[in-house]
Amino acid sequence: MVKKVTVNTLKKIKENREKFSVLTAYDYSTAKYLDEAGIDVILIGDSLAMVALGYETTHSVGIEEMQIFTKAVAKGAKRAMVVTDMPFMSYTIDISTALKNIGNMVKLGANGVKIEGCNDYILELVKRCTQMGVPVMSHLGFTPQSQNVIGGHLIQGKSLNTTLQILEQAKQLEKAGAFSIVLEMVPEESAKFITENLTIPTISCGAGLYCDAQVMVSDDLLGKFDEFKPKFARKYGDMKSLILDCAKRFNEDVKKGSYPNENEIYKLSDEDAQELEKYIKEQKNVSTHN
Ligand code: KIV
Repeated sequence: MVKKVTVNTLKKIKENREKFSVLTAYDYSTAKYLDEAGIDVILIGDSLAMVALGYETTHSVGIEEMQIFTKAVAKGAKRAMVVTDMPFMSYTIDISTALKNIGNMVKLGANGVKIEGCNDYILELVKRCTQMGVPVMSHLGFTPQSQNVIGGHLIQGKSLNTTLQILEQAKQLEKAGAFSIVLEMVPEESAKFITENLTIPTISCGAGLYCDAQVMVSDDLLGKFDEFKPKFARKYGDMKSLILDCAKRFNEDVKKGSYPNENEIYKLSDEDAQELEKYIKEQKNVSTHN
């Protein structure tokens, strides 16, 4: 029986000044392999809107879609903590709808949820989730669901003032019960200062080396998604080339008749083959006599 990563594991990692890893996954087999590779937290990010569903922004993904991917990933992750992103509008209408949507994610196998932003409503929601038994990963800095209000993909915390504002929000979220905070597109120095002033771990998404953890979208890491690449994404593989190569070779093999071969087919027994042949011959005779 594998020991599951929990909020306590992550807290201890920060206390020991060690680091943990977070990657996104959207399907069962990817989650299984990330888990096998030792990734500590698997996030069903709403980035799946773009990389798995082809939408332009995260706004378009719905709660029902997130539920399907959450269920699949949760089945594949045995050791890693599974955190699912609450999509746009699934948690901001009212607290009781939010808690229902969040509770359903746990029923589907999530061990926690991620919620963007910080205001009085979000602080109340984080508190209520924690009371309900659902760990909350917060998300500050650039928050993609608010990109229209922010005015684009803009770096956050670029001055002392805005860094202090993020820290203040982070402290309030920590007090409300959040177990960790993603800092997205925050300058390294600001993120370091914020990290050093919190007891809960920070997770860098383009926030430099000094956070307690690093997160990346697995499609960027694997070189699968090629429509845009954030500055902070590092490509460890070239899955796009692998997929293209395999699909092209399959296409050629099908068209020249070299797929399938003898080892890739099912055969009738000699007796059943003879019976089929005899039947075909008889059918031919019947049709030529008619
Ligand atoms: O949606 C996502 O994948 C995310 C992470 C990159 C933090 O929010």
